[in-house]
Amino acid sequence: MLEKKLPKTVTLDRETDELVIIDQTLLPSELKLIRLSKLDEICEAIKKLRVRGAPAIGVAAAEGLYALAARYGADNTEAFMKRLIADAEALNATRPTAKNLSWALENMLRCAEANKGGGVAALISALKAEAVATEERDIAVCKAIGEYGCGLLKNGDTVMTVCNAGALAAVEYGTALAPIYVAAEKGIKTSVYSLETRPLLQGARLTAFELTENGIDTTTVCDNMAASVLASGKISAIFTGCDRVAANGDTANKIGTYMLAILAKHFSVPFYVCAPYSTIDFNTATGKDIVIEQRSADEVRSLWYDKPMVTSKACIYNPAFDVTPAHLITAFVTEKGIKKPSEL
Ligand code: MRU
Repeated sequence: MLEKKLPKTVTLDRETDELVIIDQTLLPSELKLIRLSKLDEICEAIKKLRVRGAPAIGVAAAEGLYALAARYGADNTEAFMKRLIADAEALNATRPTAKNLSWALENMLRCAEANKGGGVAALISALKAEAVATEERDIAVCKAIGEYGCGLLKNGDTVMTVCNAGALAAVEYGTALAPIYVAAEKGIKTSVYSLETRPLLQGARLTAFELTENGIDTTTVCDNMAASVLASGKISAIFTGCDRVAANGDTANKIGTYMLAILAKHFSVPFYVCAPYSTIDFNTATGKDIVIEQRSADEVRSLWYDKPMVTSKACIYNPAFDVTPAHLITAFVTEKGIKKPSEL
């Protein structure tokens, strides 16, 4: 078992029915848990990336929806269902790219539909069970990804990663960092180069924090140092997470991932995408159909700086994700094993 150095990224307080998350906007300087039970605060937490990473926002949405439903006070099933559907729509609108968000909310609504015949009390208890199961499944799936991914690693390997697809992007373990943690549990020592990941710095702020808290040798580099590090020959593999995988294997992940996949090809370094099946969207044919979230100009212009570091006369383009074509992906590491894009 991974030694528990950090609390769960997202969980449900089963006594008070509150959603509990690590506020990731405060990391690495402050590790603070916050409790949420209102629609506007849960939506704000997802939009502002207090909770982020595809699996984590899926779990937060499921447990958040339950926290809301437990407080409706409705005694009529029809009114309850109407409110539940409206709240699920509001949560689903917070971030468009990660498949896990709509996947988890659809599961919750399916569960409500199946149980509405039993009255409001039965509905609430079924939704609680489904929300908790979403969290527990996430831990098991990430652990399985870690086990399969660990088979790709040997003692002394150095892995490169982008953004944060570790424990902070799921409930525990994460996806791209799960193989590193499972390897460490088995006594296989690896080290990690973590790309800083402009503009929100998930690699610098989050990946470096969680890896070092868990005793993993970590080096943070700026995004524009990736080619130089790969050219040095010290990277044995690149592991990334993903937000949505199209049916043909094209993969949306944090902006910069596509660049890294091209570099991996150039330097003949294997490029692995760690993907729970809940992130695969079989209804989206190719990467061209994936909606890419556009974020505020301020994240590039002024966030992290006392004064704006880009003149207001310049426009800003700030897509949160890019799409890596399937042909650049060596394999997907899933909870069902290691699969080529055509085998998903
Ligand atoms: O914008 P973020 O921080 O939510 O983006 C996260 C990523 O791109 C992760 O790589 C992805 O969600 C996979 S998380 C296991």
